[in-house]
Amino acid sequence: MKIEHPTPITWRFAKRAEQLQSSAIREILKITMRPEIISFAGGLPSPATFPVEHMQAAFNTVLSRQGKVALQYGTTDGYAPLREWIAQSLSTNGATISADQVMMVSGSQQAADLVGKVLIEERSKVLVETPSYLGALQAFSIYQPEFASVPTDDHGLLPDALASIADGARLLYAQPNFQNPTGRTMPLERRTAVVDVCARLGLPLVEDNPYGALSYRNEPLPTMLSMNPQGVVYMGSFSKVLTPGIRLGYVVAPHGLIRKLEQAKQAADLHTSQLTQMVVYEAIKDGFFDTHIPAIRSLYANQCQAMLDAMDEFFPAQAKWNRPEGGMFIWVTLPEHLDAKQLLEEAIAQHVAFVPGAPFYANEPEKNTLRLSFVTVPPEKIREGIAKLGKLIADKLK
Ligand SMILES: Cc1ncc(COP(=O)(O)O)c(C=O)c1O
Repeated sequence: MKIEHPTPITWRFAKRAEQLQSSAIREILKITMRPEIISFAGGLPSPATFPVEHMQAAFNTVLSRQGKVALQYGTTDGYAPLREWIAQSLSTNGATISADQVMMVSGSQQAADLVGKVLIEERSKVLVETPSYLGALQAFSIYQPEFASVPTDDHGLLPDALASIADGARLLYAQPNFQNPTGRTMPLERRTAVVDVCARLGLPLVEDNPYGALSYRNEPLPTMLSMNPQGVVYMGSFSKVLTPGIRLGYVVAPHGLIRKLEQAKQAADLHTSQLTQMVVYEAIKDGFFDTHIPAIRSLYANQCQAMLDAMDEFFPAQAKWNRPEGGMFIWVTLPEHLDAKQLLEEAIAQHVAFVPGAPFYANEPEKNTLRLSFVTVPPEKIREGIAKLGKLIADKLK
């Protein structure tokens, strides 16, 4: 039976939903997906790195050998052998991480949501880097905190500035490696100093590290987790080293917190796909990353260099940018009077795109900044796009 003339509903959103906004980046990505556009806007990994056949073989193995288990409900904390593998891989720098401190999540984005749900009170202070990852700001925003942006320099968070504004904060969210959006890395001394400040103040430190394995030259620096396992909540992901489409990540937390996160996850989605977790374990358990990760690093390092070379050639001297040691992004600072959002409109008309930096700031945006990703564009197209962008910027400075 179909109801005739139902009363139209005026949806009354909960207060926390009213302030929800689509990510500025996702809106830009819709435009930049057009094939004629050379897009440096996306934060997507390169599909050239996706091990399709290897994953297919892993699916086949899991389904043929353990199909009934893989297709059943699983536990909220996740597939034990995979959690064990993660615990071992994070037990570095003298730290011991146990599998019962690890919970699998549906992408590390879910970890940000769960951490927010469990730790953030309405109007409580949450410390973030200047600038910070938009997805984390979005995830935490639902819990209505007051963000305080900790000043940074080219080496990341400034420990003294952190100490001076940390009073009463619920947590600090930081990315020490190849940060999204700036591509910058906190050197060892800096991360030690930041961990030290947090430990001294009893401030929970949330370390988000999806790009850590993608170091172009050096071995990855020690995680902040390994420096203080009792004070750090660590978020990891298979998105950038395997594939993002499987939506698999993990959160590592001290015993006092991990069970609370587990209860929050249980309420949210019971558990992350058992099939996916078993397939990923099958795919990586015999050393697949030993060859796969170096291949990703070398592809990205090459494209990063192509972009840096083109920027050296075509960008005016008044623009400043960093030279990342890994990851997927380069951060550009234009002269102060230029607005990257306005520049984007002109760039799109010329079939080039990037992401303006402003949405990555929790507090006062620096409108003259922008993020470039080099991973999904081949070197010749990188050169063509950067040449166009460089000319646009130079014309504005005339
Ligand atoms: C810094 C950072 N954290 C978390 C995520 C989310 O990753 P996942 O695909 O694991 O949800 C991303 C994705 O781009 C990211 O850049």
